[in-house]
Amino acid sequence: MSLTESQLAPAAALLRAGRLVAFPTETVYGLGANALDARAVERIFQAKGRPSTSPLIVHVASLEMARSLAAEWPGQAQRLAERFWPGPLTLVVRKHPGVPGAVTAGLPTVGLRMPSHPVALALIRAAGLPLAAPSANRFSQVSPTTAAHVRAGLGDRVDLVLDGGPAGIGIESTVLSVAEQPPVLYRPGAVPREEIEKLIGPLRMPAQSAEPSAHPSPGLHSRHYSPATPLLLLDGDTPLPPGRGALLFIARLLGAHRGVRMPACPREYAAGLYARLHELDGEGWDWIAVERPPSTPGWEAVNDRLRRAAGR
Ligand code: TXA
Ligand code: MG
Repeated sequence: MSLTESQLAPAAALLRAGRLVAFPTETVYGLGANALDARAVERIFQAKGRPSTSPLIVHVASLEMARSLAAEWPGQAQRLAERFWPGPLTLVVRKHPGVPGAVTAGLPTVGLRMPSHPVALALIRAAGLPLAAPSANRFSQVSPTTAAHVRAGLGDRVDLVLDGGPAGIGIESTVLSVAEQPPVLYRPGAVPREEIEKLIGPLRMPAQSAEPSAHPSPGLHSRHYSPATPLLLLDGDTPLPPGRGALLFIARLLGAHRGVRMPACPREYAAGLYARLHELDGEGWDWIAVERPPSTPGWEAVNDRLRRAAGR
């Protein structure tokens, strides 16, 4: 779905005035503000209830805009951007001094991404600004894949919500740092690790820090992306817990009060996962159980989000 210029103009004006606009991307909805305005960025943290130690992704509409926000633009960044942008890959590079520390939680690096959603690109161009935008949900809750999820989660904490229809990919971007060598995969996501490794060689996993402050990737905190209803991942023949609950299953329908069949293809599974969790979370179950998907590479990002949603 695309929006007309006259629909985008008020959103662009709000952004230039330092206000918050939620907008669709191909992964999930983002809560956007002018990335060059530290006070506007501060509003994002307030609206989300997010600790200021969590860095934000800055969304751009061109390679030039990306490079203007980086102190260094390594050859690897160029190759990855040429291959995967616009699209669901966030590249972490050393930041330009013009990027406020509020955006990067004081880190010397910044995460940059050129989304492929036409509304996101048109909005960045109309505003003429790079947009800092985390997922448009309250801190640690399930990311929104529709405008209705954003409104339900943030209410009047956001000045405007642009509706671009359901997000097609349904889980967040892959976050990759090329500011360190070998490059570090901070968050598995919509671009599979193998596709990146084919282009630039093996990736490293981040060092797990027990110290929650000064943490480079809040996506690494264990409880994240969680519904309010307790979520449990079920292995093999684990029985269902007592009480009334819902089960997301691929193959095994156990005796839950509500069963939701999920696609056996990881891309299709990801596309519907958050919408299902939002829906079931609103139904008042004692628990949501999820049949653990295969542990093959194609499922890496989905398994990562399910583990976090289960809080372990
Ligand atoms: O698909 C997405 O990435 C969505 C849409 C809106 O673009 N955005 C999103 O943002 O998921 P957020 O804030 O919910 O997640 C940002 C992730 C976090 O895991 C954060 O730690 C990581 O990106 N990140 C951002 N800047 C970083 C940096 N300089 N170094 C390491 N990780 C960084
Ligand atoms: Mg998020």
